[in-house]
Amino acid sequence: MTLSSGASRGSNLLAIHRYFAQNSLPVTIACAVFTNPDSPAIGKCHQLDISTELISVKDMSNFENRILELIHSRNISLVALCGFMRKLSKWFLNEAGIPVLNIHPALLPAYGGKGMYGMNVHQAVFAAGEAVSGASVHIVNAQYDRGPVISQKVVDISLCKCAEDIADLILKIEHQIYAPAIYEALNKA
Ligand code: GAR
Repeated sequence: MTLSSGASRGSNLLAIHRYFAQNSLPVTIACAVFTNPDSPAIGKCHQLDISTELISVKDMSNFENRILELIHSRNISLVALCGFMRKLSKWFLNEAGIPVLNIHPALLPAYGGKGMYGMNVHQAVFAAGEAVSGASVHIVNAQYDRGPVISQKVVDISLCKCAEDIADLILKIEHQIYAPAIYEALNKA
């Protein structure tokens, strides 16, 4: 199952779907949950026969309960956040009892980056003159972007001339590492 907020472009969700299909892996996206009806990825999911659900995050307790119902009724084994920008509660994560993963367009300090930087991550990395950036897949805990990293790729960004160049490069890295990390986590679960 994937969760996406309104800001999601759906590119990670579709890259995950593509990876499973191209490698004939016995995994399907059972449900793509969106929090905003205007998300451009909803139409793309319909074209690809990916089942979608629309659930508002105005009441997070209701949202989490609806996700738990879906996890149980559809036998979900893993939740992958794809541009979902809300914190999930410790209660929800315990109740879910399955891996919940997220990908972030930056490096954690422990892995050579200077931090997560929030929404303007690529501008901040460019302004700081960092030589490398990357993408990190991590297990979601109640601190949101602070769970253990399970996959990460570091790239040289010294030739990037602006923040947009960094953003393009890192998005490609995200598309390469998220799906294999999900598949590995599914095999370990
Ligand atoms: C990705 O760039 C991901 O790293 C970021 O949202 C985008 C979602 O991809 N997530 C975060 O920053 C989490 N804090 P998408 O727009 O292709 O769905």
